Amino acid sequence: MPQNLLSIKDIARADFQALCEQAETFRQNPDEAVPIDTSQQGGLLFFESSTRTRIGFETAAWKLGIKTVSIYETKHNDTMSAAESLPDTIRTLNPYVSFFCIRHSDEVVFSQILPYTSHPVVNCGNGTQEHPTQALIDGYTMLSRFGSLDGLNIIMTGALRYSRAANSLMALLAKFNGVSVTAFTESDLDFRDKVIRDFVGNSNEYRHSDSPDWGNAQVIYSAGFTPSNPSGDYSQAVRDKYKITREIANNLGDGIIMNPLPRINEIDPDVDETPQAHYFQQNENGLYMRMAILERYCLLAGSMC
Ligand code: CP
Repeated sequence: MPQNLLSIKDIARADFQALCEQAETFRQNPDEAVPIDTSQQGGLLFFESSTRTRIGFETAAWKLGIKTVSIYETKHNDTMSAAESLPDTIRTLNPYVSFFCIRHSDEVVFSQILPYTSHPVVNCGNGTQEHPTQALIDGYTMLSRFGSLDGLNIIMTGALRYSRAANSLMALLAKFNGVSVTAFTESDLDFRDKVIRDFVGNSNEYRHSDSPDWGNAQVIYSAGFTPSNPSGDYSQAVRDKYKITREIANNLGDGIIMNPLPRINEIDPDVDETPQAHYFQQNENGLYMRMAILERYCLLAGSMC
């Protein structure tokens, strides 16, 4: 595995399997005490808002005995009379920390960061492009439930083109065989051609459908409608068309409904009590996967540097 986790494309199947096994070990031993590791300190740099990823990595670090320092929200720049450059921020914090977890709205942000640090860097979301740690959480959730990602039948809905979580999940699924993805969304919100091409390369199937076969799916992945939509606001009519209702949940049988959260209104709250609702379990899995990621990239990698 490379030192940095910047793209899900850099993760081989065997790496994914190893991370899932470690996450499962953490899940089964949630209260195991670990000594404070004073040699490690995490820099959590969130230049875009985040609840789960930021708090999740902070909690995961603390559970591993690692202390953290944080920058969060875009006010970092707003409150300064002139914004500090990102390279200067990295150079300033580099001596204080031993790894970085970074979210930024700029898709090419890491080209500005990597020249100024030799510490491991974890991508916690860069623009609409990638969210590799969320994809690992999502893949781990599917693996826990179904035992394999090969052959899964998945319906994906929401503003897929602009969902970094959905884009990274497609890149993860591309590593498996016989996966079927049905995109249920507006044509202009469907995945970019390149994402689809990369996915179907490995004997996987992709189709766009206006009336998906809910009864045969194992997973409904509701990606939601990102607040920052480069193509303009989503109308309420569009949002309502792709809302997951209790009726859809009931049709799903043994399948599960996933969502990277935050859920705004793309899943009716009365779905929450159905056995198909799996998004809060998915969120809990995030803690164990983030622990596995930090252990692999920031503790083991750090000790090898
Ligand atoms: N799923 C996810 O990335 O959530 P946050 O934006 O709250 O981190």
